[in-house]
Parts: sequence; structure tokens; C-alpha cells
Amino acid sequence: MSLTWSAKDHKNMSQAAATGHKRSRNDTGNKATVVLGAQWGDEGKGKVVDLLATEADLVCRCQGGNNAGHTVVVDGKEYDFHLLPSGIINTKSISLIGNGVVIHLPGLFEEGDKNDKKGLKGWEKRLIVSDRAHIVFDFHQVVDGIQETERQATEGKNIGTTKKGIGPAYSSKASRTGLRVCDLLGDFKDFSMRFRNLVHQHQSMYPSLEVDVEDQLKQLKEYAERLRPMVRDGVYYMYEALHGSPKKILVEGANAALLDIDFGTYPFVTSSNCTVGGACTGLGIPPLNIGDVYGVSKAYTTRVGIGAFPTEQLNAEGELLQTRGHEVGVTTGRKRRCGWLDLVIVRYAHMINGFSAIALTKLDILDVLDEIKVGVAYKLNGKRIPHFPANMDVLQKVEVEYETFPGWKTDTSAARKWNDLPAKAQNYIRFIENHIGVPIKWVGVGKSRECMIQMF
Ligand code: GDP
Ligand code: IMO
Ligand code: MG
Repeated sequence: MSLTWSAKDHKNMSQAAATGHKRSRNDTGNKATVVLGAQWGDEGKGKVVDLLATEADLVCRCQGGNNAGHTVVVDGKEYDFHLLPSGIINTKSISLIGNGVVIHLPGLFEEGDKNDKKGLKGWEKRLIVSDRAHIVFDFHQVVDGIQETERQATEGKNIGTTKKGIGPAYSSKASRTGLRVCDLLGDFKDFSMRFRNLVHQHQSMYPSLEVDVEDQLKQLKEYAERLRPMVRDGVYYMYEALHGSPKKILVEGANAALLDIDFGTYPFVTSSNCTVGGACTGLGIPPLNIGDVYGVSKAYTTRVGIGAFPTEQLNAEGELLQTRGHEVGVTTGRKRRCGWLDLVIVRYAHMINGFSAIALTKLDILDVLDEIKVGVAYKLNGKRIPHFPANMDVLQKVEVEYETFPGWKTDTSAARKWNDLPAKAQNYIRFIENHIGVPIKWVGVGKSRECMIQMF
């Protein structure tokens, strides 16, 4: 790839300038399809991305770090991806880690090597890493743990983070002391000086933090050399992908709308924008190059970590969803909290993301229930509210209005098309579709790639 502007670039730009040309949706180049979590994470984004990635040329992560855990099951083999885009499985596509992602280098290589042993060969040759991505250092992860302990001690509760250093690394980025991949690959003397300063800054905030700076720098130097062949100017790489020959570009969201730093259940959120804007800022994609935006939602709701969860079921039904759904965090191994599908949050996610369609996963988990409830509205002091409350104390107090559906009590795991589903399951799906006002394009009935009913 060349880092200089080509004649084609200059021609495009001067033509646009000469004609005072306003770009329309039809002449902006290739479009990126975006897959986003519409709940509190773990909706099955990995599976949806895998499905679309079989035809993609470029699969990108735009935000988050290895707090994400995306499962893909192909030919009976289960893969879990944390930093690598799930499209890395497709040997014909390129995977890109964008500038909005925070990268823990030991985590990245551990993940790659683990998957290499599972048979995922040549991943390093298919991976591109943006030079603008920020680095998560080991001490960021230690600080994540210290902050959680402090929250517990001072406020009586923590966030329940994944302790992958995500909050501290994005804090360093926002306070403009963070270090990026381009810094690591540049003058190592300068990088070392800035790394020492960053450690010092954290040690003055957290006196118990111990860092073997020399050992860290030695390791980082080694990682730098392993990483170097994969690093590109991410903005220019994306520009070429958008404006070169026709290409299928896929963006894999991590975390989810209700964990978004701006729109989520703050402060019980992650530290990046997991909604559609994150695809633009985390990859340098202009808004006009965003094509379809697919929201992923389970047929019920789960949440890992602390925070309000209006439809949570702390009873036998919640336990059944947890055990049947194998609801255990991919990254932390924690049990996921479970409850009924909350359409208020999915509609809220749609307000922000403007979904083109929804993938409804894990319908099969509901197969044994006599009755299924769906949260359709929130009430405060007996009155329906039209918005999703920003304040967590308010959210804790809402009363959920439910619709109740009869269970279909039939095994749906072998269903491969709409007509294979029992009428009561079809009714449940159509209700969800109508209530959100977005078509459901896929229905998941099992873990593997083929267990996805495509509706249109
Ligand atoms: P992600 O973080 O959104 O990619 O989701 P996770 O991988 O963390 O969690 C989703 C879990 O549900 C994984 O174990 C998937 O294999 C599994 N899964 C996804 N879709 C379905 C489905 O339709 N049915 C069943 N039974 N499991 C599914
Ligand atoms: P995927 O991509 C579920 C949650 C954590 C915690 C909060 C903050 O697999 O859907 P962090 O470590 O990011 O500072 O933790 O956010 N969380 C997730 N929960 N799935 C995820 O990602 C998550 N990423 C973060 O449990 O409550
Ligand atoms: Mg997950």
C-alpha cells in the first residue's frame, strides 16, 4: 500500500472542488455494513459477523478492547475472539483493528497463538492494525482492579468491569498522555520516556501500583517488532478500501448500546462508543459510507456486571434462561444475569443507531417455557414514560409493563426456514418486529453458523 496520494485521489478531489460538487449517497464509494449489540452485550454479534464475513473482503473492529468476547462456532469447533475481528476465520478476507480500539499487545498475541493452535493458520498475515490505535499496558489492567476495589470501598459497589484495563486506557487517551501504536513503532527512546512518565503519573494516583518499567519496555520492544508488519495508516487504508474496487466491508461492534459511554446505563458502562458513531470515529469512515446497520438482540435479555436491569428475573425463570442459555461471560467466566426481553431498551438502541434490520438470537432457549413475557413499556408513578431514563436511580424505580405470550413448547433447533417455526414462535417474532418497527432479518436457533434462519 502506498502512503502517498495517487493521481486518482487528486483527480477525485479536484473534480469535486471544481464542480462545487455535493456528494450524494450514490457516489460515495463502498459502504460499510455495521453489526451492533442492541442490549447489554453478548447478544451473539460474533455469530452474526461470522455469517456475513463469509462474503466480506474486510472485517473491522472499531472500538473496545479485549473486554469483548465473541463466540463463533464453525464445523463443531468453537472460537472465542476478544481483539481479533471474528472475520479472521475467513481466510479470504482481511481483518482490521481500527484506531478506536484499545490494544493490549500480550492479549492480542496470546489470542492469535491460541487460535493458531485450534487451526486458524496465517492470522498475522490477514490482520491490519491501525497506527492510531491506543495501547493498553499491563499497568492499566492493574489500575482497573485497583479502581474497582476503591469503588467497592468508598461507594459500597463497583462496576464489575472485565479488569482488562479498558477504562484506564481510554482515560489515558482522553487525558492526552496515552501512547499509540505509531509511538511504539517510532523512536523507542521517546516512547520509553513517555511510558515512564505515564507510569509515574499512575503511581502518583495509585501509590500501591508497582511496575517493573525496564521489564515492560523490554517486552514492548519485542511486541513492537512482531506487530510492525501488520501496522498501517488506518485512515488511508480505509479510504482506499472505500474508494477502490467494489468491496464488502463489515464493522463488528463490541460491547453494546446500553454499555455505551454516552448512551448506556452510566456509570455502569464501558468506556467507548458502542453505537453507530463509533464505527465512524473508530475507523475513519465518513457517515455517508455507512450502509446497513444491523442490531443484534437475544430473544431475552442478559447483563454481566452491576447496574439497573428492569426486566431481570431473580427467580426460577431467570435461572432457566441462565442454564439453558449457558449464560456465562466469555471473557470473565462470570454468570450472566437474565431476564425477559426488554423492548424499551431495544427501541432505545434503535433510536440511536437507526437499525436497518435486527438479528434475533437464541430463540431456541425459550423452547421449553410455558409462558414468555416481553417488556413493552416503563411506568413511573403509574404513568408510561416515552423515553429511556438517563438517571440510574430513576431506572431502578421503573415498573415494567409486560405482554405475555404462550410458549410454543417445541424444539426449534432444527428449524432452518420461517415455515419450520411453530406458529406461536412466529407470533412472538412478529410482535417484536412490529413493536420495534424494524424488520427481523435473522432468527438464531443454535450456536453454529447454520443455525440461523434468514427471513429475507
Ligand atoms: P457476542 O459478544 O455478542 O459475540 O456474544 P457472545 O459470544 O459473548 O455470547 C453469545 C453466546 O450465545 C455464545 O455462546 C454463542 O455461541 C451463543 N449463541 C449465539 N446465537 C445463538 C443462538 O441462536 N442459539 C443458541 N443456543 N446460542 C447462540
Ligand atoms: P461483548 O462484545 C458483556 C461490561 C462489563 C462491565 C462493564 C464495564 O462480548 O458483547 P469494562 O471492562 O468494559 O470496563 O466493563 O461493561 N462489558 C460487557 N458485558 N459483553 C461485553 O462485550 C462487555 N464489555 C464490557 O461486564 O459491566
Ligand atoms: Mg460477548
